[in-house]
Amino acid sequence: MDYPRYLDDLDPEYAAIVAPLLEHADVRGMDGFRHHDRTALTHSLAVSTRAWALARRLGLDAASVARGALLHDFFLYDWRDGRNPHHPTGHARVALDNARARFSLNPVEEDIIVAHMWPIGKPFYSYRESALVSLVDKLVSTKEVTVLFARGLAAFAWSLASRLAAALG
Ligand SMILES: [Fe+2]
Ligand SMILES: [Fe+2]
Repeated sequence: MDYPRYLDDLDPEYAAIVAPLLEHADVRGMDGFRHHDRTALTHSLAVSTRAWALARRLGLDAASVARGALLHDFFLYDWRDGRNPHHPTGHARVALDNARARFSLNPVEEDIIVAHMWPIGKPFYSYRESALVSLVDKLVSTKEVTVLFARGLAAFAWSLASRLAAALG
């Protein structure tokens, strides 16, 4: 199966863990949903690779962290179209249902997915691995949203400056 180029750079040990997930068409289909400044797939890969590396250093269950984190936003819809008003609190449960329907998950992986939105969403973490992924998700998401905001601000400033320049002749 041909992977997009950004998958080629994955650590081989990490890639071996998540390969069975990435081979699934619906996981790769996350690349079709925009999420922050990127797609749901590239966001999930960013969270998963960082959380996996940290979990190894901390002596946690790194394989479950890699798999659970890759599926934490496996909700498979475009949240910007307004058809899912409960997205902030509900998408973790949708992601878990989608993941369960397609893969065999262990309890740590399931908890990573369903608890990743705490404290906005429930439940609270049952494992340290879930707390780690949730924290990394928040850090990565903050960076992505900041990039998006900065891009918008730059575009606005550019259009304002262009109009001003045109008005001033
Ligand atoms: Fe999420
Ligand atoms: Fe996320």
